[in-house]
Amino acid sequence: MNELDLRRAVAGDGDALEDLQRNSITGVAAAHYSRAQVAAFLRCTAGALRAHIERANIWVLTDRGLVVACAGWHPAGALADHIAAPVDPRAVEVRSVYVRSGWTRRGLAARLLDRVEEDARAFGADRADLHAMRGSEPFYAARGYAALGDMSFNMGGVPFPGLRMTKPLRAAERLTL
Ligand SMILES: CC(C)(COP(=O)(O)OP(=O)(O)OC[C@H]1O[C@@H](n2cnc3c(N)ncnc32)[C@H](O)[C@@H]1OP(=O)(O)O)[C@@H](O)C(=O)NCCC(=O)NCCS
Repeated sequence: MNELDLRRAVAGDGDALEDLQRNSITGVAAAHYSRAQVAAFLRCTAGALRAHIERANIWVLTDRGLVVACAGWHPAGALADHIAAPVDPRAVEVRSVYVRSGWTRRGLAARLLDRVEEDARAFGADRADLHAMRGSEPFYAARGYAALGDMSFNMGGVPFPGLRMTKPLRAAERLTL
């Protein structure tokens, strides 16, 4: 594998991010959802990633210019879209974790999640929360996230189930006190 470049997403990445999301949902996540659910997800989230590029602190990994994975975060409750979380200044919401089909299980999402958690600690958060899509729970569990409970998004009348998960970000520092 070539050395990948890690950088922050910029406004001009809108098309590339939308393409990555579509690719990851139809090529990776689709194994865990029905066709109707995949179609509803893409319909209801179209444009959201592009709209939130800057506020969602998105990191991307690129291979010779091709965006192969992304992951972002924002303060909990800060973005009003289909994620309806209460505002909590000590928590961040991890979002938009997508790896391109054919690029999974190479440690890309793990690398991005480490970067996102580093940002979240620097922001002052004690906790990272997220909505895990079906099929991504083992990845998040391997990265220290615990299940809080089942949840389901309403994607234009189509239920899109997942799992609410959370991870304490400052446990190691507390242990050293
Ligand atoms: C979930 C997803 C982001 C994981 O990305 P990835 O780059 O393949 O993950 P990594 O290679 O960094 O995996 C790190 C570790 O997580 C665990 N893991 C990752 N994917 C796993 C899977 N499908 N099953 C079991 N464990 C998994 C493993 O322990 C893995 O380490 P290993 O490969 O050495 O065994 C990717 O599969 C994806 O994009 N899925 C579709 C979109 C999605 O569900 N995004 C999450 C939205 S909340």
